[in-house]
Amino acid sequence: MSMNLQQAQEKLEKYGQQHVLRYYNELSGEERQALLDQIEATDMSILEACLHREELTRKGKITPLAAMQLNEIEENRESFTAAGLEAIRAGRVGAVLLAGGMGTRLGADAPKGMFNVGINRELYIFECLINNLMDVVRQAGAWIHLFVMTSDKNHESTVNFFQEKNFFGYRAEYVHFFKQEMAAATDFNGKIFLEEKGKLSTSPNGNGGWFISLKNNGLLKLVHDEGIEWLNVFAVDNVLQRIADPCFVGATILKNCVVGAKVVRKNAPDEKVGVMCLEDGKPSIVEYYELTEEMINARDEKGDYAYYFGVILNYLFKVEELEHMMASKMPLHIVEKKIPCLDEEGNPVKPEEPNGYKFENLVLDMIHQLDSCLPFEVDREREFAPIKNAAGVDSVESARILLRKNGVEL
Ligand code: UTP
Repeated sequence: MSMNLQQAQEKLEKYGQQHVLRYYNELSGEERQALLDQIEATDMSILEACLHREELTRKGKITPLAAMQLNEIEENRESFTAAGLEAIRAGRVGAVLLAGGMGTRLGADAPKGMFNVGINRELYIFECLINNLMDVVRQAGAWIHLFVMTSDKNHESTVNFFQEKNFFGYRAEYVHFFKQEMAAATDFNGKIFLEEKGKLSTSPNGNGGWFISLKNNGLLKLVHDEGIEWLNVFAVDNVLQRIADPCFVGATILKNCVVGAKVVRKNAPDEKVGVMCLEDGKPSIVEYYELTEEMINARDEKGDYAYYFGVILNYLFKVEELEHMMASKMPLHIVEKKIPCLDEEGNPVKPEEPNGYKFENLVLDMIHQLDSCLPFEVDREREFAPIKNAAGVDSVESARILLRKNGVEL
């Protein structure tokens, strides 16, 4: 039995959200039920946290964590690669594409992966990623399971696109789609927006819920049945992303770490990237805006900058550890975003400026729950071309330049 009107009213009153029933009387019977169901399913206990956002910021003690740098990797490339290939051939490595985001900064309506970065030919972001993964499939002579996380907002278009494009040559049986959870979006006072008269405004709940969503969608069973012990999680928007990179996989395994994180040397001490560190002695990531002047300029014993390796959202997690971690609660991040909603008069608006908050869990918080992490340096010119914006820094333009440098025809 789903929630009735009175139960919904009680729940809304508890969280100060009665306004979402403003148009209830105008709705059809079906729409009413859908709204009640949505009210029932929505976690409203997290919303009031936006009223004291400053309390969510970190409190631990930050100290440096040394990265494995390019020269050390070069010296060991053969043994690392051999160990990685062995794990891949044994089917112990899977990949997880995080493609549930809204890509609002890029501004396209379609899923980000459907964006065409080609100039004289079609070359989609998803296609670039599949091409990169295919390099490893060829090298290893083994297919790698690829899990693709989508959200309610882009699931169908993503799945249809892959099917229409014949999975860009990948083996369809090795591609598994799953949807992440949604969270309500609010105005700056923590009041849930309406997207339609009978629908709460929701957005994907961040990329940190990927493992729980994988499990909730029944795919953890496949992970177990196939003997997958490592999952390489990566973002959709880096078109130079190396996926299931044998050398990285091997290094993480041989160094006995439970997670590996690909990192790049910063462009400048104040570049806006999250940096690997230790927080209270455990691996963690400090956001660029949390770095103090003193930390930005701190040096290690060799005289190099101590906080100089930025994460690129490419992590190799040990599945066993993820399962232990599942019971613990992840920290909440509250971010200002542009959220389409109804205005006071009930007309739909698409704001030009951030107008409210989204509530997210982030994959980087998973690192802090683990005991050992290998920050693994990669050459940013060869492996880091994120597409976040339409122009300027981390944009289609900058990614095209880097793709060309790496011999990709556009
Ligand atoms: P971003 O931080 O770039 O967020 O995501 P976004 O929502 O896609 O883009 P903007 O901020 O609105 O422009 C980093 C990676 O995490 C995925 C994205 O798809 C991207 O690969 N992600 C993000 C999810 O899978 N789910 C989410 O809820 C958020």
